[in-house]
This record gives sequence, structure tokens and C-alpha cells, in this order.
Amino acid sequence: AWKPDSIIEDAIARVREQVGDGHVLLGLSGGVDSSVVAALLHKAIGSQLTCVFVDHGLLRHQEGDQVMKIFADHLGVRVIRVNAEERFLSALKGVDDPEAKRKIIGKLFVDVFDEESSKIDNVQFLAQGTIYPDVIESAGSKTGKAHVIKSHHNVGGLPAHMKLKLVEPLRELFKDEVRKIGVELGLPAEMVYRHPFPGPGLGVRILGEVSKAAADTLRLADHIFIEELRRSGWYDKTSQAFAVFLPVKSVGVTGDGRRYEPVIALRAVETIDFMTAHWAHLPYELLDTCSRRIVNEISGVSRVVYDISGKPPATIEWE
Ligand code: XMP
Repeated sequence: AWKPDSIIEDAIARVREQVGDGHVLLGLSGGVDSSVVAALLHKAIGSQLTCVFVDHGLLRHQEGDQVMKIFADHLGVRVIRVNAEERFLSALKGVDDPEAKRKIIGKLFVDVFDEESSKIDNVQFLAQGTIYPDVIESAGSKTGKAHVIKSHHNVGGLPAHMKLKLVEPLRELFKDEVRKIGVELGLPAEMVYRHPFPGPGLGVRILGEVSKAAADTLRLADHIFIEELRRSGWYDKTSQAFAVFLPVKSVGVTGDGRRYEPVIALRAVETIDFMTAHWAHLPYELLDTCSRRIVNEISGVSRVVYDISGKPPATIEWE
């Protein structure tokens, strides 16, 4: 039988052998793969690990603080958090094309990571959360979003002078195995079983030009949606669910009179492989609760719509 604890023991032994008393750098994103690598390496080599967490300001509600709480406070991992929100927002100013936004975010992410890591002395190794499906995918040299993502998340662009050797302890594992190991290593199940979140984050969920105001509004709407999904038991029945900020103004009316404000769309899908997907048939009562909470609790939103498009033809993300 497949046993997480023996896999962990084995991985720890291999990492120790590879790394010796060298120092390892890891780009921590808060996603499942890099999180499990962080927990694993911390167990294997403790203070020889330094994580750099680039907060691009396009993360979900309180996500940056949660990452720090779990890794720095709770597990005692050395994590350097880089608050780069302003840099990302100013780089994105005036840009509305989805692929252009992806490129800007991906490139700046690598630049910030490089800058921060070049301040750390005496690093010999770079750890990556590469898992088996990534290995297969790169071998087939498929292009497309997923590939771009990994190179951005796993950081492909360190300065050549750093000449780091790669440490990839999850290379032989599938996602469900990585999750089991994560739980075994003490990561909260809520984090390990979280829906996937794109590298460019809210940058591709705010349609068109990204602004801080839109990101703040979207974060709250998304948080309400996810909270209600969890409360009702639907979170684990859906593969991915999130809110989208539409830069389309619509008229609304409240006690105070007429409003003219942006629209929030909710998207929830069920899928096995994310290549095709069905929209989730959420109960009307649940959608009703979400809609009411969003318009009541967030000023600046007066209309909520639910996305009933399958993939194909619609992609899961709106951009
Ligand atoms: P689509 O929208 O193409 O999404 O149906 C399929 C899956 O890929 C995720 N996705 C991304 N992940 N960077 C990422 O890391 C990206 O640029 C990106 N675009 C889409 C999406 O969230 C879904 O899980």
C-alpha cells in the first residue's frame, strides 16, 4: 500500500543526501505544491531552508497573512515576504489585454523573486514544487497556459551567476499523493485541499484594467462566495469556484436611491482534468444567500450574476 509516512521518510533522506549542509531557496506561493515542498524541506533540513513569498497584491482575502501564519508562525519556517502590490499594480496600469497582463505579472514575479533571492548569501540549491504531471507535460513540450504557469510559479529565471542546483522532492508524485503528504506533514487540510488558483491571481479575474479598488471589491465578494460554499458543504463538491469582477456598470436601487456600479459574476465548475468542465448546479437558496450578502456587505456592487457556461466553449477563467 502507498504510505505517506514512508514516502516522507524516503524523500527526507534523499534531500539530506543531496543537500548536505548547503542552503536551499524556495519560492513559496501558498499553492499546494510549493507549500508541501516547504513543509517537507523544513522537516528535512530546518534552518537550511529560506522561502521567498512574493505577494503580488492579487491574492485572495487575507491569503498572504495566512501563508505567513502557517509557515512562519506555526511551522517556524524562515519565510521572507515581499509586499510587491504597488509594483504590480503600477506595472499593470493601463493594460487590459489578458495575455499582456499574464506576461507582465509573470515577468515581474520572476524579477522580484530574483532581486530578493540575490540578497540571500550562500545559496546552492533551488527547490521547486514540480510534480509528476509537470514532468510529463514538459517532456511533451506542450505550450499553453499551464506550462507558462509552472515556469512562473516555480521560477525559471534566476540569474545565471547563481548557478543553483535543483531540488525537486515531489517529482515522482501525483497531486493526490502530494496532498496526503501535506496533511501528514501537518499542513491544514483546508490549505492542502484548496481549489486551484491561477498564478496571475485576481489579475485575470478583474476583467480589463486591474485596480486596487477592483481587487479589494473582488476579494470580498470571492470570500463571501467561498465562505458560503464551505458552510453549505458545496466547496468540496466543486472543483473550482470564484468570483469575477466585471467592469460593466449596471443600475441598481436601494433605500438611498439609484446606484450605478460594477457587476460581480460567480463561477463554480465541476471537472476532472480542467480541460473540460460543467458549471456546478448550485442550489438556488445558496446562490440567493451569496447574492444578498455580496450586495449588502460590499458597497460598490449592486448586481450579482451566475455563470452557466460549460467548457468548452467557455474557459473556466474569464480571461
Ligand atoms: P481555463 O480558464 O483555461 O483554466 O479553462 C483551466 C485551469 O487553469 C487555470 N489557469 C491558470 N493557472 N496561470 C495559472 O497558474 C494562468 O495564467 C492560468 N490560466 C488559467 C484555471 O484557474 C483553471 O484551473
